Amino acid sequence: MGLRDQILRRKPLSEITSGSDEAGHLKRSIGTFQLTMFGVGATVGTGIFFVLQEAVPDAGPAVLMSFLIAGIAAGLSVVCYAELAAAIPVSGSTYSYAYHTMGEGMAMVIAACVLLEYGVSTSAVAVGWSGYFNELTNGLFGWALPQALSYGPIPFEGSATGIINLPAVVLVFLCMLLLLKGATESAAVNTIMVLIKLGVLIMFAVIAFMSFDIVRFDNFWAAGAAGISTAAGTIFFSFIGLDAVATAGEEVKDPQKALPRALIAALVVVITVYLLVAAAGVGSQPLSEFSTEEQKSAGLAVILRNLTGSEIPAMVLSAGAVISIFSVTLVTLYGQTRILFAMGRDGMISRRFAHVNPRTMTPNFNTVVASAVIATIAGLVPAGYLWDTVSIGTLVAFTVVAAGVMVLRRTHPDLHRPFRVPGYPVTPVLAIAACAYILYGLSLFTWITFFVWLAVVLGFYYLYGRKNAAIGGHRHPQGDVGDPIEPKEL
Ligand code: ALA
Repeated sequence: MGLRDQILRRKPLSEITSGSDEAGHLKRSIGTFQLTMFGVGATVGTGIFFVLQEAVPDAGPAVLMSFLIAGIAAGLSVVCYAELAAAIPVSGSTYSYAYHTMGEGMAMVIAACVLLEYGVSTSAVAVGWSGYFNELTNGLFGWALPQALSYGPIPFEGSATGIINLPAVVLVFLCMLLLLKGATESAAVNTIMVLIKLGVLIMFAVIAFMSFDIVRFDNFWAAGAAGISTAAGTIFFSFIGLDAVATAGEEVKDPQKALPRALIAALVVVITVYLLVAAAGVGSQPLSEFSTEEQKSAGLAVILRNLTGSEIPAMVLSAGAVISIFSVTLVTLYGQTRILFAMGRDGMISRRFAHVNPRTMTPNFNTVVASAVIATIAGLVPAGYLWDTVSIGTLVAFTVVAAGVMVLRRTHPDLHRPFRVPGYPVTPVLAIAACAYILYGLSLFTWITFFVWLAVVLGFYYLYGRKNAAIGGHRHPQGDVGDPIEPKEL
């Protein structure tokens, strides 16, 4: 088979509906509520705890509009996700959708994007957690890790450096252990953490609303369209993660109904909480306060301390941030392992990534390898390098999802679609336009990083994936594919 045919070959959709898909199967144990919590857990994380201090100086009180624009871009994409996730309920998220709708070549492009979206974002979020962790231990016990063990060695825009970011590494390791214990327990732990973090964000909004002054919304549009869109680009990071819901396709009970419901429910929860926090924050203090160095380091916690004159609400909020960011790390790491699982099953990477432990029904080898790589990046690289890379991967993936909806409607008009994008075709077209608008604002450096990474992934596909693809008949002898490996005792 020629290269062109390999790039264009698609996984047949019949494999999904007949249930004859390759290799190991994961346990269907997650319901709609837990899945909604997964989406919220993956999304409400470091962003909302820092983003006002970054975005308000750009947009002023119109930061509320920036939240809406970023939320709409993410929301339109999530609605498109819902159609594909319900029609193609398999592990692997965008990667799998692309493989079924646009062929192997595009699936590899998407694989490059989602490896950034999940893998790099897990590292980035773990680094953010490390900062809040130090903040918390400092506040509680007057003790923090020395600089050498709190920062990686790579400098970024004058930030502090050290030898290794130890808390970030430990966090990834803890999340790995939870995932190795099995998805059900991980989802339950995640649900508890999500409820705690929503609680502290609502506590923030209630306290901040007590000092609310409508005067702070005077000159609402002063920053102009440019300021609002720049801030929307920054804020977009806070909405990344909703699509994690779609990566759990094979572990969800009644996925055809549960996936779209959970996606939309998670979006509504996230937008509501963000708008409450933003409105309360902006209304509670002068705009100039947002750009002070003190506020940039501890975000919402400092606002609370200033408003109440007490350490206690600030400490509660910091503790909530530590818990909240923990749950984001857990869910993004989970999403990463399920994408690698799908790629391993397809033969795009070693099939060991698709091996499932028979006792816990989780892909152990995969989880350990992914965690080791992510922990290494988190230990060495500062978050500032990582944020934009995560955004570009996500935005390109979102764009492909929206395009995939339109392709699939043409190529498979009769496919059973339990959920259909409302307002088709306007909705997917608007989703693409919104993502393109934010992509346009990203820096040249980010684009270069992205294309270098893409070249690496496509090079690997050329040398390995196209020759080993399960779809090309290159299956391992029966009994090897999906063969469980012994659980690794940790
Ligand atoms: N949306 C996630 C966060 O804000 C990545 O941390």
